[in-house]
Amino acid sequence: MKPIIVYYSYEGNTEFIASVIAELLRAQAVRISPIKEMTSSGFGKYVWGGGQVVMKIKPKLQPFTINFDDFDTVFLGSPIWAGTFAPPIKTLLEDGYFHGKNVFYFYTHEGGAQNAHRRIEAALSKTNRLVSSEGFLDVLKNPEENRQKAQAWVAHCLKESE
Ligand SMILES: Cc1cc2nc3c(=O)[nH]c(=O)nc-3n(C[C@H](O)[C@H](O)[C@H](O)COP(=O)(O)O)c2cc1C
Repeated sequence: MKPIIVYYSYEGNTEFIASVIAELLRAQAVRISPIKEMTSSGFGKYVWGGGQVVMKIKPKLQPFTINFDDFDTVFLGSPIWAGTFAPPIKTLLEDGYFHGKNVFYFYTHEGGAQNAHRRIEAALSKTNRLVSSEGFLDVLKNPEENRQKAQAWVAHCLKESE
């Protein structure tokens, strides 16, 4: 397996899981971000960010350099916004940044992520293969528990790709 970790994180929860995975796999982790990042906090962020999802906004991304040809596996990370992956991930998928990869999807949430697997599966291009997905609840409130869960999931992912 030649993995790269690509993720979006607004408040650090997804970044925490990405860094645990990167450390375990000794792989590079790349944080993508929109050119226009939201500035809201508190309740306002749900309104602004949720609105982006509902309006199917596909934000332009800050430039980043990944040569996807160098990797056969993508660990893709997102917070759950309005029940699905966040808008920067929508850009990544719909603009066809990568093809023909084994994809392991990790998402962080606060308890409302029932459709997360189905939503990413539907959004991935047909040439990519969703191998496994795992959700992480209230990550920064329970970092140790989530670190252990990430470790167990990575071990499972390594087995899946043997
Ligand atoms: C705009 C917005 C919408 C959200 N919608 C949901 C949701 O539908 N279900 C849920 O469980 N959590 C939701 N959350 C909470 C985040 O998924 C959760 O806090 C996540 O771990 C944040 O990751 P981050 O710190 O990497 O940005 C939402 C957060 C934001 C900012």
